[in-house]
This record gives sequence, C-alpha cells and structure tokens, in this order.
Amino acid sequence: MLQTQVVDLNNLPPVNEVLGEKEQAFYNTLKLPKRKTEWLGGRLALKKLLVAHIGGTLADFEILTPGGVGKPTVKRGGKEITIPFSITHSNGYAVAAIAPQAKYLGIDLEKVAPRINAWKSTFFLTEELTREDNEFLTSLWTQKEAVVKLLGSGLTINSLDVRIKGGQAQFSGRALEIYNTLGRPQIILQTTVLIPGFYFSVALAS
Ligand SMILES: CC(C)(COP(=O)(O)OP(=O)(O)OC[C@H]1O[C@@H](n2cnc3c(N)ncnc32)[C@H](O)[C@@H]1OP(=O)(O)O)[C@@H](O)C(=O)NCCC(=O)NCCS
Repeated sequence: MLQTQVVDLNNLPPVNEVLGEKEQAFYNTLKLPKRKTEWLGGRLALKKLLVAHIGGTLADFEILTPGGVGKPTVKRGGKEITIPFSITHSNGYAVAAIAPQAKYLGIDLEKVAPRINAWKSTFFLTEELTREDNEFLTSLWTQKEAVVKLLGSGLTINSLDVRIKGGQAQFSGRALEIYNTLGRPQIILQTTVLIPGFYFSVALAS
C-alpha cells in the first residue's frame, strides 16, 4: 500500500534530468545550497515513485508549491495528480512516499540528536514525554511531524494541539478543526529506523 523512496543527497543526477522548466526556474531562485539539494532530492524521490506507478519520465511531473508556502501539488501535463504523497529530508537524505489506496499521508525523517529543554517544552506537552532519551524524543518528533503533514497544515497550527500518546494522535484547537474537515479519519502511525541513526514515521489514513 505504501511505497517509499530514499535518495542520497550526495549523489544527485543533473538538475535537468529531474526538473521540468517551471521547476528549474523555481530551483534557480533558491539561494542556500542545502535547500537546493533538499528540494531537488525530494522531487527526485517522489518522481521516481510516480514514474514507477504511473509511467512517463521524471521531468514529466511538476511538483511545485502554489504561493511558495505549504504542501506542494503534483501535476502531469497541467493536470493535478491526487495520489496521497509526502516528502521529507534530513541530514543528507530525502525520502518520498506515495499511498495510492489511502486518503491522507504524511511522513517525516529525522536524525537522532540531543534535544534541549526549551525544544521539548515548545513542541511537547508533559504528558507526551513518557521518556526523555534522544531516541524516544526523535521518534516522537517524527510522529508529530508526520501527523502535521497528513493534516497539511504545516506551521499554521500550534504543535501542542497535536498530542502523540501511545502511538496515537489526538487533536485540539485548530488541529482538531482541520482533522474534522478531513472527516476524522483513523490515523495509523508507524515508526521505523529506515536509515541507521534516523527515525522515520508514516501517518496514514484511509
Ligand atoms: C513544513 C513542515 C510541514 C515540515 O517541515 P520540516 O520537518 O522542517 O521538513 P521536512 O524535510 O520533514 O519536510 C519538508 C517537506 O514537507 C512538505 N510540506 C511543506 N509544507 C507542508 C504542509 N503544510 N503539509 C504537508 N507537507 C508539507 C514539502 O514537500 C517539504 O519539502 P519541499 O519544500 O522540498 O517540497 C512544518 O511542520 C515545519 O516547518 N516544521 C518545522 C518544525 C516545527 O515547528 N514543527 C512543529 C511540529 S508540530
């Protein structure tokens, strides 16, 4: 049901093999080399999945974000493709996923790293912090990010309005409003070590 593709950002093909004209124009406006690499790598990962699932070539698919902020859209020949998809990047890797049989999808990849107290209290409620080791905190973070991406809300919500308890997502405030507009789907959360030293979470709803 879920298909994922990992891309090593140190080994990317030439830009014109991956991006169409409009994408190249946007890519050329990006200033930071890290951002450029991540943006390109995420698109390569997703386009590989789309070519395998639908056909065509990498450059046939156009993955751009209307208005520049938020979740991108995928188009082919000017027509939007509605397969649920998600992109993430972290520390030298980009990952994309598609879930053709599902309704909503969000993924997040994060390298295990030490976290400071201010970070914990900004993003998590005490009730979520049932452990405080870096492994747990990183996996919890990927779960929350994956759910936020499934909602499609990005930073328009307060991260404390999404609570992860026992591997289940609970919502309040604006996050709950968005969840209700999606029809309150059952969200399945799965976390794995996709790459050694990294946690990877998938939030999927049918
Ligand atoms: C954009 C956000 C959805 C994820 O950002 P992130 O974890 O820093 O970055 P990731 O590499 O995992 O994901 C970035 C990708 O998410 C996708 N994305 C961006 N906005 C999105 C949205 N509103 N909904 C779903 N996906 C989104 C894009 O494809 C983006 O990659 P691209 O710009 O190359 O196309 C958002 O949650 C964010 O900026 N978070 C920053 C940290 C934060 O405050 N988190 C709060 C936790 S609740």
